[in-house]
This record gives sequence, structure tokens and C-alpha cells, in this order.
Amino acid sequence: MSNDSRVWLNGNLIPWQEATVPLLSHGFSRASAIFDVFGVHVGPTGPAAFRMDEHIKRLMKSAGLLGMEMAYSAEEIVEAVKTTVNVNHLGRGIVKMLAYWGEEAVIQLVLDSKLDLAIFTIPEGEDLALDKPKPLSACLSKWRKIHPETVPVGAKACSNYLNGYLARRDANQRGFDIGILLGTDGFLAEGSIESIFIVKDGILKTPPLGRVLSSITRMSILQAVPEIGIAVREEPISAQELLAADEVFTAHTGIKVEAITRLENRELPNAGPLTRQVMQLMDNIIRFKDDRFYDWFQSL
Ligand SMILES: Cc1ncc(COP(=O)(O)O)c(C=O)c1O
Repeated sequence: MSNDSRVWLNGNLIPWQEATVPLLSHGFSRASAIFDVFGVHVGPTGPAAFRMDEHIKRLMKSAGLLGMEMAYSAEEIVEAVKTTVNVNHLGRGIVKMLAYWGEEAVIQLVLDSKLDLAIFTIPEGEDLALDKPKPLSACLSKWRKIHPETVPVGAKACSNYLNGYLARRDANQRGFDIGILLGTDGFLAEGSIESIFIVKDGILKTPPLGRVLSSITRMSILQAVPEIGIAVREEPISAQELLAADEVFTAHTGIKVEAITRLENRELPNAGPLTRQVMQLMDNIIRFKDDRFYDWFQSL
């Protein structure tokens, strides 16, 4: 990370190195932190955020699902993001918003204070390759997706990522790029940090909400593909159906659409015809080549 980058913390711009919490803060020692991340693109009139309104809405929703209270309104967060992006001269990159209980809490489990809010800008670079899809290999993880009756999976909570971490680690140890999590019912959920779509007999499908994160990329694909005549369904997908799919792809903010070209021991196309169409559509959208979706961007 660039050493001279500034972080917006509770209304102040501070050096990156000073954006820290006590080890015994509730956020660190009890994992009561939520976050959201969106892409910043270089638009015709300067930096433009991809669906920032939806990402901020999801951050607020994450807090609500966990019974936590944000200290700032959506409008105040928009202003804070603009300030941070501009002070750091962010071009193509990402904005990460992190809300947490920063105060120390040794005994107390439930706090009634509002969440601290930190906003980071991270430029595209070697560590962060954005929108550069590469063929992925994937396996079915030995870990199952957290059951939605144990913690709300719709909350983008840092603690939920232990589940994703285990799936990715398991996959990497077995020689795969990513691990795909099934729910405890054996039906497809998602990847560690990515939504999964399958294609079978020309039909595009993805699992319904309730068992997966409400991904903004997933939502964008569901909203955009009918415009190019692709039918899409949100419905439960069994492990057998996933393993027999004609095409499988992942979707997330960092890389919109990425084809899975090996699933367990099966080779899949790189990328299949329908995946290629969705890839092209999303690529056109984020490169401001499709004016049907200009209103998905907010100027910063
Ligand atoms: C578990 C999970 N699913 C899906 C996604 C994709 O969500 P989005 O499109 O909002 O980046 C993410 C992104 O981090 C994720 O962590």
C-alpha cells in the first residue's frame, strides 16, 4: 500500500499507518466488523463509482442484520468517499468501507455505541488486478457454506470470511484456484468471495438469495442479461447439476466475470458461448461503452 495514502476515519483524513485499532477492540477481538467494496473506474468525466449507492445500501443493511448502528447516513458516506477518492487521486481502483466497534471490550459482548467508519482507497496495481479475467480451476470445498440460520449470510461481515478462507485454503491445497461451497443441504451456495453462475442447455442459473451474499455483480448480471436476450433463473442448484453444467463462471466486484475451465476433474470451455456474451456485456458496461447502464455509475 502506498505510504502516503490517507484514510477517512470518523470524519478525519489520517495517514494510512495511523488507521489502527486496539488489539482488544470489539471489532478485532470479537470480529464485530462489516465492510463493503466497490470499484472506481476512470469515466469520460473523471473517477466514477460502479453502483456505489447499492454498495452503501448493502453496508447499511449489513449493520441492520447484525443489530448494529451506523454513525453516518448514506449521504454522509457518499461525501466521505468523494473526499477520500479525491485526496488520494484515485484512478482505477477500489474503495473499501469498514465499519466496526473500535472501542476495547474485554467482557462486554453487546455494545450500544455506533460503529466507527473507515474508508480506504486502493489503486489498481500488482496486488490488485481488476477486470483481467483468467481461466480458473475450481473444486467443491469440503467446507459447507455457513447456514443462514446460524449467522445472516446476507451481511458482509468480516467474521463470515473465515468460512470463505477455509474453502479457499482447502482448494489451494488440492491444487485448485477456488473452492465452491455447497450449503448444508447439498445445494450450491457460492465461492469464498464470488457468486457462481451455471449454464445448462442455454439457460443461465444462479442460486437464490437467502443462502448467499446479495452480490452487486450478481444483481447487475441478473438485471443486464435480459437486455441481450439471455434468460436467467434464480433457483436452487444441486451439486450434480453444477458438476454436469455446460459452462460455469464466477462473478464479483474485482473481476466481473471469470470462466471456470476445470471443475474437479472435468474440463470446461474457456469461456463457453454464453459466458463470453455475459463477459462482453459486463466489460462494455464498465468501460462506458453501453449507455443503457450509464446510471449505474456515480461521479466522484
Ligand atoms: C461471499 C461472497 N459472495 C459474492 C461476492 C460478490 O459480491 P460483489 O459482486 O458485491 O462483489 C462476494 C464479494 O466479496 C463475496 O464475498
